[in-house]
Amino acid sequence: MALIGVFDSGVGGLSILDEALRQLPQHSYIYLADSANAPYGEKSSDWIAARSLTLCKHLAGKGCDAIVVACNTATAQAIQQIRSALDIPIIGVEPGIKPASMQSQNNIVGVLATEATLKSDKFNALLATLPKGCQFVKQAGAGLVPLIESGKADSEETLELLANHLEPIQIAGADTLVLGCTHFPFLRKAIRKLLGESITLIDTSDAVVRQLKRQLETIEQTHPSKECGEVLLISSKNADSLLSIAQELMSTDLGLHSVAARMLSEAQ
Ligand code: DGL
Repeated sequence: MALIGVFDSGVGGLSILDEALRQLPQHSYIYLADSANAPYGEKSSDWIAARSLTLCKHLAGKGCDAIVVACNTATAQAIQQIRSALDIPIIGVEPGIKPASMQSQNNIVGVLATEATLKSDKFNALLATLPKGCQFVKQAGAGLVPLIESGKADSEETLELLANHLEPIQIAGADTLVLGCTHFPFLRKAIRKLLGESITLIDTSDAVVRQLKRQLETIEQTHPSKECGEVLLISSKNADSLLSIAQELMSTDLGLHSVAARMLSEAQ
């Protein structure tokens, strides 16, 4: 079986880890949350690229057979550099604007992502490949990531801020909303409260994990086979709170896995 690294600026990539544990529970995972530096979405491109590369090298140094960059912002700014620097499969995530444009009935799609993702060349290049008939209402979700990081995904404060961010999307009449940041699947309940049940929410975690699965088929897997692999959670801020937020936010029963939480030690 394989050892898979999953990296995000914070707890958002737990939405990808959750799906990976559902589809591929037999593998072992190291989840690295750079919560001390979240949010990345309002930082400079150079900073995001350098930091993402450092942390992916850290994961590779721990023996990971593949890494999921479970962060739209880091993927947009750094995926090429990470792929050139490391000799293992690197899987990125990007806002699902293509599936959204195909699923929308009225061709009006909201995109909620970080400012850095929306401004990135990678996102805009992807947007340029799509048919012109679809209107994309882009909205930076400023302030949402810190609230999710502090365990307030379902709070009144989050609902209020989210209502402001979703207003232009609602006014435009979007029937589809792209969750363009891995933190945002944890806002599903709040989004449904504000926009109702009929809007289609596009979350790419299933597609990302299927891509991981395909990549794993191409590499030799040297770790011993198990029914349920181990999960190591590493935080640059607070290991205990990463563990408790993972238990709260994820639908996977972490009790089935052997789970440990540690602080990031960059000297290792
Ligand atoms: N989870 C992230 C993403 O998918 C980054 C959020 C942030 O740190 O701003 O974009």
